Amino acid sequence: MSEFSTVLTESRKFPPPPGFAEKAHLKSMDDYRRLCAEADANPDAYWAARAKEELFWQTPFSTVCEWKPPFAKWFLGGRTNLSYNALDRHLATQGDKVAIRFEGEPGDRRDVTYRELHAEVCRLANGLRALGVKPGDRVGIYLPLIPEAAVAMLACARIGATHSVVFGGFSAEALRDRMNDAKAKVLITSDGGWRKGHVVPLLDNVRASIAHGIPSMEKVIVAHRTGATPPALQPNEVAWSELVASEPASCEPEWVDSEHPLFILYTSGSTGTPKGVLHTTGGYGVWTSLTTRWVFDLKPDDVYWCTADVGWVTGHSYVVYGPLMNGATVVLYEGAPTTPGPDRFWELIARHQVTIFYTAPTAIRAFMRLGEEHPKRHDLTSLRLLGTVGEPINPEAWMWYRETIGGGRCPIVDTWWQTETGGILISPLPGVTTTKPGSATLPLPGIHPAILDKDHHEVRQGAGKLFLLKPWPSMLRTIWGNELRFRAGYFAEHPKYYFTGDGARRDADGYFWIIGRVDDVVNVAGHRLGTAEVESALVSHPRVAEAAVVGRPDSLKGTALVAFVTMKAGVETSKALEAELAAHVTKEIGAIARPDEIRFAAGLPKTRSGKIMRRLLRDVAAGTDSKGDTSTLEDLSVLAALRNDEE
Ligand code: WTA
Repeated sequence: MSEFSTVLTESRKFPPPPGFAEKAHLKSMDDYRRLCAEADANPDAYWAARAKEELFWQTPFSTVCEWKPPFAKWFLGGRTNLSYNALDRHLATQGDKVAIRFEGEPGDRRDVTYRELHAEVCRLANGLRALGVKPGDRVGIYLPLIPEAAVAMLACARIGATHSVVFGGFSAEALRDRMNDAKAKVLITSDGGWRKGHVVPLLDNVRASIAHGIPSMEKVIVAHRTGATPPALQPNEVAWSELVASEPASCEPEWVDSEHPLFILYTSGSTGTPKGVLHTTGGYGVWTSLTTRWVFDLKPDDVYWCTADVGWVTGHSYVVYGPLMNGATVVLYEGAPTTPGPDRFWELIARHQVTIFYTAPTAIRAFMRLGEEHPKRHDLTSLRLLGTVGEPINPEAWMWYRETIGGGRCPIVDTWWQTETGGILISPLPGVTTTKPGSATLPLPGIHPAILDKDHHEVRQGAGKLFLLKPWPSMLRTIWGNELRFRAGYFAEHPKYYFTGDGARRDADGYFWIIGRVDDVVNVAGHRLGTAEVESALVSHPRVAEAAVVGRPDSLKGTALVAFVTMKAGVETSKALEAELAAHVTKEIGAIARPDEIRFAAGLPKTRSGKIMRRLLRDVAAGTDSKGDTSTLEDLSVLAALRNDEE
């Protein structure tokens, strides 16, 4: 924890660099305060103005917001289409501008202009319609980070189909569960993708998941990415190239209602299986478009690179929708940061003259360990702005990012948000905010975060749970097919305030410092996981009796996963068994969920009512002493045994 505890005493301050503010979209604290005051004085007028500035509305909206806690609707009566906003709007003025500058892991390159992207999206949209995909139907996307991923998402948006992207690192089992929950009709995949010099067998995974049963699935569309020749297909599969071969390069967008479901993205919760976060069209479009410009200060000649995969929300909002709606040139890199060498990212930045770079703290810490000689070998002077997202950034990594990557001249935007929030809510504005290493600083204008104590009193200065007191346009609308879980997950603590699941601290300047999750969700190397998911993967192994998974602070990954496992009677524990269990989790969920450490235990500490005492396990995992009250422990000897293992 020592690395993180410095957060609380951090006193360095960095005002926007000279010259940056003058050219920025938002230039001063006055700009910021004016917008906040506008939003406070008349929220409807404020949001209506933002919505009209950001999007083309085919039919204007009549009501700005309807808030019946926990349900929000935004820009009611309006009709729009985000594919139109991301593509068609730019054709007249900048059709030949590069929209996607792609680089594959093996080094292949492809520039896709706005005109070409529009054509590809239209062809696929027509192809999907030809397959019978209707507005509101769900379409799964399981692709590597290649231009086709953006094409697939926008093609769905174009015809009003609701996409559900599943990260290519998830296993066949995880894919099946998500497709079944969404009841997807079509799945768009590829033969494979490149990762660390190997091919990830996406199509094999798709076939395995369908073999295990996805009753709703009618057709699989297969792009050709990795093999020397296109893969031989089965009757339920169609080659992407064949599907679009005779389709025209234009396609009338489906003008959908502002509240039409745009996508379902599965994310981890504190209990049970991953939940399908539902985002709708208008509000999500307005906020992702606006925040991309405000937070990244995007300008027409920027080369923007967000390293996230489209399988996560960051890839949805800040690789695809936000930047493309702003007409940016987006760099897309398929592979691993260290393939073929430890300087791959820096070499890409220098060669593509990247100006805005957005990545996760875990990546920054990994680069720090690799040594500064790697970035130093490359000319990184094209960079003018740096961003981070996904987990708290420790001041040491923040300073390294600033000095070694940003040359001391680039503002850093530490952006706090979640899958559920759709877009960035707390972040510096680079021309406005004086930053402090490790703080996400202040809410964006119109956003009302607050730290509340146990009695729901606001903590103006100090620590507590982080809530959002008012709705915002890109908030999740529900959990797909599970309203109860939506209520229980976010509005159980307070019926009108959205609970984030995060703990935070606010300092004397009103700055927010995100401490981390206070529920059983963990951020492992920037990937969000539920400990319950990993537990259920472990107990699905035939020889496991019980499992408890907790996070332990880790200087590289932020949090590492420690699994306490009790085996069924008579099972001998061994190193080989440990490896077998780890492999089992990889098969059930994916390599990102593989425990960093598996500890066999004779029993798990429980309360009298039979609940596993996770707080104690967290302390045992971290090697710290618990000051907690253990009087409800059913079996103190179990705890003692775990402690002894520790010594
Ligand atoms: C954490 C990722 C500290 C937080 C966009 C949140 C952060 C969870 C930050 C959401 C940040 C995200 N500082 N913590 N700047 N950004 N988090 O849904 O715990 O994958 O609740 O969305 O990541 O993760 P998710």
